Amino acid sequence: MAGRYGPVVMDHFLNPRRVGELENANARFRAENQACGDTLELHLRIEDGKIADARFRALGCTAAIAASSFLTEWLAGREVEEAKLLTNDRLAEMLGGLPAGKTHCSVLAEEALAGCLA
Ligand code: FES
Repeated sequence: MAGRYGPVVMDHFLNPRRVGELENANARFRAENQACGDTLELHLRIEDGKIADARFRALGCTAAIAASSFLTEWLAGREVEEAKLLTNDRLAEMLGGLPAGKTHCSVLAEEALAGCLA
């Protein structure tokens, strides 16, 4: 994708889903991008091998917020084993692509998810 964000990214950035604290979470992980300092904290409630609920809090750029929002929606109700296979490239693809130079922003989501599922 060229230098601007697509409609899926803009929708999730302007109307982020599942923002906030998940009080009964049993998996939490805070990922930080060492290059820019942006952070993503992911909270999951895992029950019987499934992700029953997901929330996030992020301090980040448009791509990081959109990726976090999309991730939490994608995760809710999903099998843990399937969630473990998600890569940042696949996430960027589901977002309709990210502009050149912004693909690394979806790595935060991948790292936070891996941290929660470890
Ligand atoms: Fe930091 Fe996008 S610029 S995650």
